[in-house]
Amino acid sequence: MSTRTSSHGTSRNRRGPHRSGQRPGGHLRTTNATATANRLIQSTSWGDPMQFNVLGPLELRVAGEPVPLGGLKQRSTLGYLLLNANKAVATSQLLRALWGDRTPPTARKMLQNAVSGLRTMLASHGTGDAEVLTHAPGYLLRVGDDRVDLSRFHAIVEEGRTELASGSWNSAARTLRRALELWRGPALADLVETGIDWPELTALQNSRLAALEDYVEAELAAGRHHEVVAELETAVETEPPREKLCGQLMLALYRCGRQADALSVYRRTRTRLISEFGLDPGHQLQQLERAILNQDPSLTRGPAGPVRSAPHVPRPREEITALPARPSAERPPAPPITERKWVSALLVQTEPTRTASGGHDPEDVDQTFRQLTSILREEVSRFGGTLHSAFGAVWLAAFGVRRTYEDDAERAIRAGFAIRRRLESQPGVAARVAVATGEALVTNPPGGAQAEVSGDVLESCMRLLGSVRPGEMRVCDTTRLASRGAVTYADSGPSAGDVIAVRPEHEAATISLPFVAREREQATLDRLLDDVRERRSPQLVTLLGEPGIGKSRLINEFRLAAEASGRARCLVGRTPRFGWNAPLTALADVVKSYCGISPGDSTATAVRKLSHHVQQLSDDAETTEWLLTHLRPLAGLQDDSRGPDEVGEAFEAWRRFLEEMAAREPLVVVLEDLQSADETLLNFAADLDERLGPVPLLVIATARPELLRRRPSWGCGKRDVTTLTVGPLSRDATWRLLESLLARHGLCHRLTSGAPHIDESRLRRELIDRVGGNPLFAAEHVRMLRNELLPGRELAIPSLAISGAAPSPSTSPDCPVRLPQSVYNIIAARLDTLSRTEKSVLQNAAVFDRVGWAEPIAAISGLGRGEVTDHLHYLEQRGFLARTRERSRQGEVKYEFRHSLVRDVAYSQLPRPDRAEKHQRCAAWLDGSATENAELLEHHSQRGELTFRTSSTRD
Ligand SMILES: Nc1ncnc2c1ncn2[C@@H]1O[C@H](COP(=O)(O)OP(=O)(O)OP(=O)(O)O)[C@@H](O)[C@H]1O
Ligand SMILES: [Mg+2]
Repeated sequence: MSTRTSSHGTSRNRRGPHRSGQRPGGHLRTTNATATANRLIQSTSWGDPMQFNVLGPLELRVAGEPVPLGGLKQRSTLGYLLLNANKAVATSQLLRALWGDRTPPTARKMLQNAVSGLRTMLASHGTGDAEVLTHAPGYLLRVGDDRVDLSRFHAIVEEGRTELASGSWNSAARTLRRALELWRGPALADLVETGIDWPELTALQNSRLAALEDYVEAELAAGRHHEVVAELETAVETEPPREKLCGQLMLALYRCGRQADALSVYRRTRTRLISEFGLDPGHQLQQLERAILNQDPSLTRGPAGPVRSAPHVPRPREEITALPARPSAERPPAPPITERKWVSALLVQTEPTRTASGGHDPEDVDQTFRQLTSILREEVSRFGGTLHSAFGAVWLAAFGVRRTYEDDAERAIRAGFAIRRRLESQPGVAARVAVATGEALVTNPPGGAQAEVSGDVLESCMRLLGSVRPGEMRVCDTTRLASRGAVTYADSGPSAGDVIAVRPEHEAATISLPFVAREREQATLDRLLDDVRERRSPQLVTLLGEPGIGKSRLINEFRLAAEASGRARCLVGRTPRFGWNAPLTALADVVKSYCGISPGDSTATAVRKLSHHVQQLSDDAETTEWLLTHLRPLAGLQDDSRGPDEVGEAFEAWRRFLEEMAAREPLVVVLEDLQSADETLLNFAADLDERLGPVPLLVIATARPELLRRRPSWGCGKRDVTTLTVGPLSRDATWRLLESLLARHGLCHRLTSGAPHIDESRLRRELIDRVGGNPLFAAEHVRMLRNELLPGRELAIPSLAISGAAPSPSTSPDCPVRLPQSVYNIIAARLDTLSRTEKSVLQNAAVFDRVGWAEPIAAISGLGRGEVTDHLHYLEQRGFLARTRERSRQGEVKYEFRHSLVRDVAYSQLPRPDRAEKHQRCAAWLDGSATENAELLEHHSQRGELTFRTSSTRD
């Protein structure tokens, strides 16, 4: 059974055409705009003879009464003409609006009928307020401006902006509110429901949001930040990311004294921008975050703190409007996308829903509900999920919908655990929590609006929730296996399977494997350390590599050797995978590790250890005190109430601390997982080497390749900066690793025992191919084989036969090795670091063949060849594809997948009808091209047919 949950938010518009700096100004304009608005406002009301409304479901009211508008085509024609009122609309344009690219042969006739029906309807109400004229090259709806709500909206907004520009905040707010109140829902909501998607509607929604921004601007300037928070929260949550709205919400929250909430809005926005568009927030939003962190006095309106309301605050406009939308060219296109994805669903039910006062008054219940929702939203987004819907006292959140993370199951558990904890402290609330993981069909609408999720996983989660007792949390088997190592479960009694505890992030269990290969990388690090020691000059080296490839292990081995030989002391700091509580955690880790502070130490012990070590480092009391003042809050040993100047000084103190340490003995500082680091830490790390004195210090940063997406020029053009790519192990090294793992588990001779028909050397080849030189993949495959080959073992890892794998005649059709789910998740997560278009190019390449080039991929995807060429090149740089030495007849580079699993996973995420269509397009392209490959043509024709048949019988 399939369950579907859908968003309440609108999916239109990505950004408004309006820019604050482009607003019309000047006296003449002001007078005209005000006059027009007044005319419109005065002459219209529900009681007027004829009123057309498009700001909501399409309506025609005559003398206040709704008039039936006829069939869908007639209503759509009227809707489209109203959006273009008093302008000639070409027939071809109308045909496209009504039927898109699939205009039936009778379309013109049908359009004529619709127009004729409209004329009859308008004439029958006989006021002459509106008529449809035949006007070359099509039709024109003549209607008075005062008869259409859209024209009134524009006129009133114009008036409001004029007031805003003159600093009349209160009247501007009132006027703009009036304009916004004309909206009864998304424009032409009834027609949108039937599937129309006109660009005019997007523009209209942008106009509404621009008006909302102006309204908020006026309210903020008038000191009414409390009043706008709720509306802003809804808009920021439901609309595609608009940086100006986010900035306004941050400012409003900050002025309400909710600094932490303001910062959490920033982090949520940043997560959305990065996951949906691969972009960091714009400069101004970043500046605002910094100003909030620094409690910049310019953000508040006076020393008395937040004020509920004030009649007039002379506030320079630039301060508030400093967050313009970025040009749309910066955004990659985001077509609606439906994919098969592994998703973790989290259900939270509170019971009983009592209010703080213990009553059931709906307003009190509503207030409690909002408080709980805000807790849920915060925790869910902290762990990278999305809050989807709430029904009564049940909330649904999903992980892996907008963007897949390899640890979505664990994230869902951590979020559920944190929510349960926080709800425990609410009076009268006991939460029941369930998490289920499974494959789902996910549709992400354009612009980042909330997704639709269909799949049995939701149903399973609901069933599971039914078995959970109040105050408990339970997860399904797949979730439990996927989160092993990070979560402790009750293993007996009535609570068996319940979540007991989650381990701190970096304490999760690790697998220890014999170390193989990496001599070259170790030699490079050794050389750099020698260099640092000899020249007594700091160096920064970044190790880049895909997840599980062995960055941390390499450093660990290097560290052990460096310490054992006494060549350097090593300290490690890690960026947390989730959450945003402490952007400088990595720096704090370094301080704590130097001072020997462990997580179990009391604050007093930790402070004592810090003081002792800092005193050792510095000779004069003043410097010691200065260092301690800044290092205590950094290490979380004191409330962080630093002012703006002190934050900069804290960095300075940390650098000084490093210098002093390195001056005493050569030092290696490791900063792990910079791809998840916050901007502050990235900026700090980027120029660390330049700001340190002449000391023997080697800073080693590790990062996944996504870092380059955020910082394309990371480390470029600097003298003492090196970037080292950690690539896959060779086939030999991979087999050595596999062999020792198989031997450790007594599996060497069992590989083919359950399948005597399979040739062992082929199985070995297959396994090496599957692992693709990734040590983590090797460990996960062997762990999976151990389950499958040793009967009676408790299942420790789920595995999959990925749907539709082996889509090409060039690979073996029946690979006997299944895929560990963990490996699938890692690859799916990597694919989701790509933009939608890049990912779709990769999926089209996966459909085409083992080797692909721009022309056929452009033919399948509908993109231009040049664009596809650029994307293929980028995908090569990111390590998804590798260029072969072959060229097409037109001289285009041919690419192959660097790892066959990337191809399999990319392909498996396509829904069946999409696969069928793409195979058919491949067949059509091969048929019409000069490429002679009968086998490939046959393959695509068959798969197109096959997949089409499967989808039509099952869908
Ligand atoms: N050269 C190697 N020989 C043996 N085992 C290795 C090697 N490299 C890595 N491993 C093992 O593979 C697993 C993953 O490695 P590691 O954690 O270092 O990956 P990573 O690149 O740091 O990944 P991430 O991006 O997730 O941090 C670990 O269990 C590690 O011990
Ligand atoms: Mg690592």
